[in-house]
Amino acid sequence: MATAPRKRFTFECDDITPGLNQASADNRNLVWKKWYDSLISQLATSEYRFINYGYLGSEDVSVDPAEEYVRNFIGLYQRTLRGADLAGKDVLDVSSGLGGGALWISRNYNPASLIAIDLSTEAVDLCNRWYSNQSNLKFIAGDAESLPVSDDSFDVIYNVESSHCYTNFDAFLREVRRVLKPGGCFFWSDFQSRDSLEEIQASFVSAGFTTMEFEDITDGVIRSLEYVRGEISDGSLDSNLFIWGGDTDSIQEVIDEFSDWRSYHRCRVSLDG
Ligand SMILES: C[S@@+](CC[C@H](N)C(=O)[O-])C[C@H]1O[C@@H](n2cnc3c(N)ncnc32)[C@H](O)[C@@H]1O
Repeated sequence: MATAPRKRFTFECDDITPGLNQASADNRNLVWKKWYDSLISQLATSEYRFINYGYLGSEDVSVDPAEEYVRNFIGLYQRTLRGADLAGKDVLDVSSGLGGGALWISRNYNPASLIAIDLSTEAVDLCNRWYSNQSNLKFIAGDAESLPVSDDSFDVIYNVESSHCYTNFDAFLREVRRVLKPGGCFFWSDFQSRDSLEEIQASFVSAGFTTMEFEDITDGVIRSLEYVRGEISDGSLDSNLFIWGGDTDSIQEVIDEFSDWRSYHRCRVSLDG
């Protein structure tokens, strides 16, 4: 029997730039919180579980057939966490969004516990509802620049495509350092303007970390964006499953920005034991 075509999922999202430009440094996080709370409350009935550009590499990423359609978003988490051993460890995800990444990590990397923190209380409430069956996973509300967790409490911390929202990257890194156990590892990925790369690397060093890897992963991110744009345009992918909806023009704009001024990097640092 033929199934009825699904209604296209739509949501409204204001340009956040004017609000950020007007806000004082103390209020910028509040502007992001309101923006994400509004976006996420509209996504509550959708099937979106990731809010990132994704990554498609040449590596063969194994995913469950049911997760095939989000292979590229899972791919970004896998690429960020490359080389990580999380089995039996206490792990922290900072800025977990709609929790698709945290759920995948908690199921596939077997951490003893995975605490996922996000500034958006809407996101945290939804995640605690959606993923309540996953016993090693818990979501709590909090600010990356003032993490609501004790000193020296995590073996591994990771942060995917979110630090561009933070007011003070150095304050965030100080918090990561505070809550990471000696000998622990921190994995980070995000986009940035190419002319800020030296400053970002210097921040990891001044926070007291030893840099193990700092890698340009822009090509794989562009491959993911091109894949989503292409598959949505020719109707092979259901645009209801992507934060982009059917808006292939916006995807192209981001791809163009990557050829122009943006890059996407991944970093692994450690804290001496
Ligand atoms: C682009 S989304 C990425 C979400 C998730 N990591 C993913 O890849 O699907 C950015 C996330 O950062 C969160 N965020 C923004 N500012 C934050 C802050 N100061 N502290 C914690 N989370 C923050 C937002 O609420 C949002 O969920």
